[in-house]
Amino acid sequence: MADTAKIQVDGKTVDLPVMKGTDGPNVIDIRKIYAEADVFTYDPGFTSTASCESKITFIDGDKGVLLHRGYPIDQLAEESSFLEVCYLLLHGELPSAPQYAEFESNIIHHTMLHEQFDRFFQGFRRDAHPMAIMVGAVGALSAFYHDSTNINDPEQRMISAHRMIAKMPTIAARAFKYFRGQPFVYPRNDLNYAENFLRMCFSVPAEEWVPNPVLTRAMDRIFILHADHEQNASTSTVRSAGSSGANPFACIAAGIACLWGPAHGGANEEALNMLAEIGSVDRIPEYVQGVKDRRYRLMGFGHRVYKNYDPRAKVMQKTCHEVLAEVGHQDDPLLKVAVELEKIALSDPYFVERKLYPNVDFYSGITLRALGFPAEMFTVLFSLARTVGWIAQWKEMIEDPAYKISRPRQIYTGSGPRDYVPFDKR
Ligand code: CMC
Repeated sequence: MADTAKIQVDGKTVDLPVMKGTDGPNVIDIRKIYAEADVFTYDPGFTSTASCESKITFIDGDKGVLLHRGYPIDQLAEESSFLEVCYLLLHGELPSAPQYAEFESNIIHHTMLHEQFDRFFQGFRRDAHPMAIMVGAVGALSAFYHDSTNINDPEQRMISAHRMIAKMPTIAARAFKYFRGQPFVYPRNDLNYAENFLRMCFSVPAEEWVPNPVLTRAMDRIFILHADHEQNASTSTVRSAGSSGANPFACIAAGIACLWGPAHGGANEEALNMLAEIGSVDRIPEYVQGVKDRRYRLMGFGHRVYKNYDPRAKVMQKTCHEVLAEVGHQDDPLLKVAVELEKIALSDPYFVERKLYPNVDFYSGITLRALGFPAEMFTVLFSLARTVGWIAQWKEMIEDPAYKISRPRQIYTGSGPRDYVPFDKR
């Protein structure tokens, strides 16, 4: 493709530079189009618009490829650990052994929350959704850790990144314990990240929790699969909030709020509800007909970017079988429904023509349920894992000299100018 693209508006030709990335489609730089041609561009949902330049994650949706800093997700999920992926996302390179040891120790030694923070949870209603608690509690971190909210100081940016990666499992586990009505469990520095989190969720004073390596490895892998996904809705929300100079804790709280929606992070909860509603394999054809009649969507299917099998879904499917076998649920009726539904959808022209494939959420609900989590916790786990992606993207934006406050334009279709009418004349 040429280095410039031409656009004609009212007989005037404007030359626009064409940017080339390492991979992916070329990008037409339209920044000067308003100044030179007095027009805006229109792209609701940003389906054709690159909002930033990034070196963190690459997705080829047609081929079903996902790379973090160049490394394929399946290799990271098989061979790496979540904390190593965190380092990679934050720093751009895999750590050396001493770098990793220092990073891991740093995270593990910052998992405790200020004691006063625990009292904050008591203000929520007993039946509060754990995601409601997450939005509030993570936003409240800015009130407890003032000393790392100066976004212009690189050291404070890194401290806040470490604090959030370290404290998210503690906050998420407390949201769960509060929801369950059980006492909070303090973190332990001799356990790894996933073990520590599972213990804070499942240990009770009456019975100590014993780590199961298959389940802790599965938890760690699920965190890896959700660590980052380039400019999705919640990440764009974090960048947008951060573009005004807001502190990092507030920005991550904004990302959590966005993630909660059923079209985004809430989809695994919805996918599990859907499988339960279908209930048995013989009811699948009737349910699929309802999807074709557009009465509802097949949750855990389809993706804005992937028009092929989501590479995360492949790893999740394998992890699902491993976890279910380990906990003795291999005959789970919902797994049977999921496997059969996937088979039918992958061969049905309605889904094939629209390139609708299973996404990461299709198997994650069944897996998380087998790990012992209720559906209300699924999006909480997603937000815990995505925190590193959000913060790496936020840092990248702050460190990009070209960054500007996010301020989209609009096409106004409301009323023209008119005079105010007092009450007695309306
Ligand atoms: N079930 C049935 N039909 C669907 C689905 C689905 N899950 N997803 C898309 N379609 C159809 C849609 O009706 C449309 O058909 P037509 O062209 O005939 O009108 C076509 O496919 C394109 O849909 P779209 O809404 O334009 O696609 P989108 O890129 O805006 O939507 C999506 C992406 C993820 C919101 C959508 O696929 C969806 O709602 N999926 C279910 C929810 C879900 O699983 N979300 C998790 C996403 S992965 C986790 C994450 O990254 O957050």
